[in-house]
Amino acid sequence: MEAKFLAAALSFLSIFLAIYAQSSGPESLVPKYDNVEKQMVFYTIRSPLTLSCEVKIGNYSDLIWKKNDTVVNEVKTLIGRFRIIKAEGKFMIDKADVFDDGRYSCELNGVSKNITAIAKPIVRVPSNHGVVEGEKLTIPCTAVGSQPRLSWSFGNYTNVTESTGRYVLKKDESSNVENSVLIIENVTLDDRGDYKCTGHNAAPEDAHDTATVRVKGKFAALWPFLGICAEVLILCLIILIYEKRRNKSELEESDTDPQEQKKKRRNYD
Ligand SMILES: *[C@@H]1O[C@H](CO)[C@@H](O)[C@H](O)[C@H]1NC(C)=O
Ligand SMILES: *[C@@H]1O[C@H](CO)[C@@H](O)[C@H](O)[C@H]1NC(C)=O
Ligand SMILES: *[C@@H]1O[C@H](CO)[C@@H](O)[C@H](O)[C@H]1NC(C)=O
Ligand SMILES: *[C@@H]1O[C@H](CO)[C@@H](O)[C@H](O)[C@H]1NC(C)=O
Ligand SMILES: *[C@@H]1O[C@H](CO)[C@@H](O)[C@H](O)[C@H]1NC(C)=O
Ligand SMILES: *[C@@H]1O[C@H](CO)[C@@H](O)[C@H](O)[C@H]1NC(C)=O
Repeated sequence: MEAKFLAAALSFLSIFLAIYAQSSGPESLVPKYDNVEKQMVFYTIRSPLTLSCEVKIGNYSDLIWKKNDTVVNEVKTLIGRFRIIKAEGKFMIDKADVFDDGRYSCELNGVSKNITAIAKPIVRVPSNHGVVEGEKLTIPCTAVGSQPRLSWSFGNYTNVTESTGRYVLKKDESSNVENSVLIIENVTLDDRGDYKCTGHNAAPEDAHDTATVRVKGKFAALWPFLGICAEVLILCLIILIYEKRRNKSELEESDTDPQEQKKKRRNYD
């Protein structure tokens, strides 16, 4: 009984010691993080992505960079797009793309540290939107970045993340991003205003863009048509009156007797 207890205590102690040794031992590799707790680095699409690992014990020239457990030289999407600055323990992509996100690691003498690269979100909506009362309003929000999640704000609603009442949020089939299309069937004049699409992910800054929606009255399209009709009518009237007058004066002229015409001609000569 006592021996069993002693063994249990000893094994517990050894586990505790092992954990203690691991956590308190000097760190030989120290990556630079934007979010230390989540081991994340955030980057802007089409801007440089820089990862760095400080070597505390060992030699910088032995540092190995991997993406998702594959040495970076062997990753197809990275061919010819990255640089390694050995002396500073840096890995760089000068013009990073969305697909450059993911798990990277720096390794040295069997010690490995993870760095998760997150592409900050970018969202775009068409800035101006005209729609006729009673028709269907569709606002697409294009989003790029690492797993962007979208929400909408408009009118009295803020941070709408699912279909509510007349407002339907759908997934754009091509981009596969949830909530990327806002639809209102049967638009009313009260629906005019600003519609803001917000994208967020693990990066701290949200991205947003706003569409201004103008709703035209159902008969608004009729007015220009009526205007054109009125214009044509007036034009016809003017032509008609003019023609009448001309006919009249021609008639008057032919009424005058030939003698007078001769007189006129003589006067000219
Ligand atoms: C680091 O490695 C290089 C080449 O392998 C060697 O020349 C250099 O002396 C090493 N430095 C240290 C501090 O071990
Ligand atoms: C990373 O590797 C895992 C396991 O090998 C794989 O399931 C995953 O799809 C990979 N991720 C990327 C972005 O290549
Ligand atoms: C790095 O991440 C991978 C996948 O999540 C995990 O299996 C591995 O244990 C991590 N390594 C470290 C040192 O945290
Ligand atoms: C929005 O709020 C204002 C004031 O609280 C209210 O008068 C208006 O009816 C609301 N509009 C909608 C569409 O709910
Ligand atoms: C919007 O809602 C989502 C999910 O409900 C939440 O994660 C996010 O923090 C909210 N954003 C704002 C600005 O309130
Ligand atoms: C559209 O809305 C108007 C006013 O709210 C309503 O009279 C009409 O029946 C609606 N039409 C459809 C197709 O829902």
